[in-house]
Amino acid sequence: MKIAIVGGSFDPVHEGHIAMAEQAVTTLGCDQAWFMPSKKTPLKDRGLTDDVHRLAMLKIVAARNDRFRVCTMELERQGISYTVDTLRQLKQMYPHDTFYWLIGNDQLKQFADWKEPETLVKLAHFVCFDRNGELNDTNYAIQRCHMPMMPVSSSEIRCGNKLNYLPREVLNYIYDHRLYVKGFIESRVKPHRYRHSVSVANLCEEMARANHLDTQKAYYIGLFHDVAKAMPKQAMIQWMDILCPENEAYPVPVWHGFVGSEIVDRIFYIDDPQIKAAIYHHVLGTSTDPYAEIVFCADKTDPLRGYDSSAMIEACKKDIDAGFAWCKEENKKYLNQ
Ligand SMILES: [Fe+2]
Ligand SMILES: [Fe+2]
Repeated sequence: MKIAIVGGSFDPVHEGHIAMAEQAVTTLGCDQAWFMPSKKTPLKDRGLTDDVHRLAMLKIVAARNDRFRVCTMELERQGISYTVDTLRQLKQMYPHDTFYWLIGNDQLKQFADWKEPETLVKLAHFVCFDRNGELNDTNYAIQRCHMPMMPVSSSEIRCGNKLNYLPREVLNYIYDHRLYVKGFIESRVKPHRYRHSVSVANLCEEMARANHLDTQKAYYIGLFHDVAKAMPKQAMIQWMDILCPENEAYPVPVWHGFVGSEIVDRIFYIDDPQIKAAIYHHVLGTSTDPYAEIVFCADKTDPLRGYDSSAMIEACKKDIDAGFAWCKEENKKYLNQ
């Protein structure tokens, strides 16, 4: 068999990796493409997401094509995952098969830093794809191939960008397990706003649990409620002109709720109407949907605000409608000061 290996940390796997595996079984004529998640990548010092999750996302992807497989050899080997060790092990286990090791242009540029590069190119056919439209020269025996553009990286996805380059099932997995999601917010707002967002998310979850509501939904409403807060006024106006020009009569600090409710859908692919509506109404408290009440209350009673809000939080946990009435009343007094 001709077996192509797509190695990487897959943190997370995205359409760029998948397209390379597809190229292997089409253009290169390989019988199978194996995704090889690394335990610990030699040239990166960032701690990786738990193996269990990286593997689960790869299994979702492998199920899409009957020529795709996931190989856990590097995960099982522990320690730093050197490709040369993996290839030696593969050759021993499958002496009659031919291996193609696929890399992207960024790996091609670093190839001299890999462990035993001269040996590597003897153990397998190395093939570099120009995933991002770039294809450097090399002194090593590495075949270079063109493929359709896939300008995306896992690091961009970890910051909540280009989520359209994830299969829907992988994105669902990410949300179900809360992988990277704090990074989506952290990359967009100032540090104090990020801490507030996480604190409100946790409080929303607690309030939802106490009121027998969906805790995951409440958590995401809290986490994303201020996602548009750091957006410059000029950009905000562009969104407002399209979405709800009639709301431009409200003071500018109110707008981030309207814009945020649309951003969660268009940038983060969260299209739950209850989540969107709760974010839309969170500044003014203009909805009595229970999730909208929760985020309004959690936002106002966030312990990080520095006053004793414990009695109000307890009231919200006991009965969100009653707690909401109290928070609205307190907010009105505060605004009239
Ligand atoms: Fe807000
Ligand atoms: Fe807030």
